[in-house]
Amino acid sequence: MPGLTAWQGLFDHGKLQSGQRVLIHGAAGVVGSMAVQLAREAGAYVIGTGRASGRRTALDFGAQEFIDLENDSLEDVDAVDLVFDVLGGEVAERSARLVRPGGTMVTIAGPTEAHPIDGKTIDFIVVPDRPQLIEIVQKVREGKIRTNIGEVATLDDAVAVFNKTDRAKGKTIIRVRS
Ligand SMILES: NC(=O)c1ccc[n+]([C@@H]2O[C@H](COP(=O)([O-])OP(=O)(O)OC[C@H]3O[C@@H](n4cnc5c(N)ncnc54)[C@H](OP(=O)(O)O)[C@@H]3O)[C@@H](O)[C@H]2O)c1
Repeated sequence: MPGLTAWQGLFDHGKLQSGQRVLIHGAAGVVGSMAVQLAREAGAYVIGTGRASGRRTALDFGAQEFIDLENDSLEDVDAVDLVFDVLGGEVAERSARLVRPGGTMVTIAGPTEAHPIDGKTIDFIVVPDRPQLIEIVQKVREGKIRTNIGEVATLDDAVAVFNKTDRAKGKTIIRVRS
């Protein structure tokens, strides 16, 4: 699901091309880390964002720059062709101003009023797509991209693991069969 979401945001909606600049929010997160890797693989220049604690992870996944949203100035980022937003709200509004004329902001955080001055905003919900999923899985198997898995729990522990306040970062996997 994170792979599909990243793929559809970058390529189906964002029309990302090799050589373009993309700003990816939540770059250490589950969707963001997939987006960082797929964008790099496609030859884009990737600026990741997140909290200070996510810097190392975002850079390890391949971001070429990292903006700590709590301490750095987002406004200092040079214009980008695409913003991949996972946060919405005020961050989306400030990011829209960074989109170059004719560029796009895609968001998975729900409908937003944030629009680039001369560009578009697309909010979307991931849809199942078997050929895309097969391609993503192939890239994982070939070691070209890696998943961001936080915790693996049994089905018996599923409720407890989702209720935990200190849940591990990354995707939680519930193993339904041993
Ligand atoms: N539209 C769709 O189809 C679709 C599909 C999948 C997911 N989503 C949505 O997309 C969002 C992201 O999902 P995800 O699975 O990638 O979540 P995630 O793994 O929690 O990733 C979010 C990342 O953003 C960081 N972050 C959150 N708030 C921040 C802030 N105020 N300033 C700086 N960094 C911040 C988080 O850091 P911390 O971990 O330190 O908080 C984390 O690294 C969720 O709301 C999810 O529901 C939508």
